[in-house]
Amino acid sequence: MLRSTSKATSALASLNTCLAPGLEAKAQTEKVVIAAKVVNTFFIIACFCCDVFYYGSKHKMVSLFCKKILQITVVLVLSQVENRKITSIMKSYQTLNTELSEGIFTIIINREEKLNALNRQVISDLDDAINELYNNTEIRACIITGKGPKAFAAGADIAEFKGLTKDEGAALARRGHDVFNRIELSPKPVIAAVNGFALGGGCELAMACHIRIASENAKFGQPEVNLGIIPGYGGTQRLVQLIGKGKAFELLMTGDTIDAVCAERLGLVNDVVLTVELLEVCRAILQKINTKAPIAISKVIECVHAHFKDGIDGFDTEIDVFSSCVATEDFVEGTNAFLEKRKANFKGK
Ligand code: COA
Repeated sequence: MLRSTSKATSALASLNTCLAPGLEAKAQTEKVVIAAKVVNTFFIIACFCCDVFYYGSKHKMVSLFCKKILQITVVLVLSQVENRKITSIMKSYQTLNTELSEGIFTIIINREEKLNALNRQVISDLDDAINELYNNTEIRACIITGKGPKAFAAGADIAEFKGLTKDEGAALARRGHDVFNRIELSPKPVIAAVNGFALGGGCELAMACHIRIASENAKFGQPEVNLGIIPGYGGTQRLVQLIGKGKAFELLMTGDTIDAVCAERLGLVNDVVLTVELLEVCRAILQKINTKAPIAISKVIECVHAHFKDGIDGFDTEIDVFSSCVATEDFVEGTNAFLEKRKANFKGK
């Protein structure tokens, strides 16, 4: 289904232009702060002039009232800007742009000229960003996407394959597995906003996320057999989990690329949306999830993964996890809120 929402804002375009990374974001925000301070000063001078002009007249009270309103407005604007400054100045990465807004951490792979191919630096930066996802208590959910209109990630960086030894190959695959496993096991929900080519490692990265939303121009595939290798970042396993053995064999052995509609039909993606609405839709899903009990969300993730773990009975895990949820304050709050016909105020405790 091609989901269409009424707001046709260009989410990707605005992301690329507005959500500037690291120092760029800092510089931009500081410019806004300086501009707001200049405006504030201007208002104070203007109000002073008004006071002098109307001094002693019946309009004096009107002047004072307007002055107060203007000053309060500017203070509010400044506090909002300062607030945004705190959340937008995050750790900067060589190959990623990141932003934190309303608890949603957006990670944008920033190698547009190489179709966001996952070289060693990207994998290392992703590793650090995932640490941030785990450890920063302000972060409640995450979106991973690629910069530009063409690619989510066109795979591992083939330029780094040249001259690779067997041991180096093992290390490369193990490193990718470690990082992608941590994305998959993240206790906070992660959505892949697939905005173009998701090939090889790019498809594997999307599959490591909990939910995949594709733009209408997205393309998926595991073309590694064209290079004489197989997927090395978990693709042979996660593709089978998502679309079943028969279709997975077909994609893995032909190396074919499929479009977004086909990917949705196979169950590889949850939904296909207009390109301009991709990030907006992902945010809306996460905002909805963020209204639920955070511990319950993390336990859903844990339980679903139990199904795929060797030697673990997912049903037993569910019983344990259910009882641990019953012991939380959020369970008490959730049930009380229902019975009292009010909105639950979850604390993550
Ligand atoms: N690794 C390294 N560089 C890559 C890359 C990858 N996986 N995918 C694309 N690039 C680079 C290209 O080399 C090119 O760089 P250049 O401009 O310096 O020559 C740039 O990205 C643009 O790619 P290009 O091939 O010119 O774009 P296209 O629109 O003609 O084709 C693809 C797009 C995705 C079909 C094509 O780039 C491709 O097949 N990429 C490899 C996909 C793959 O096999 N992935 C699995 C790797 S294990």
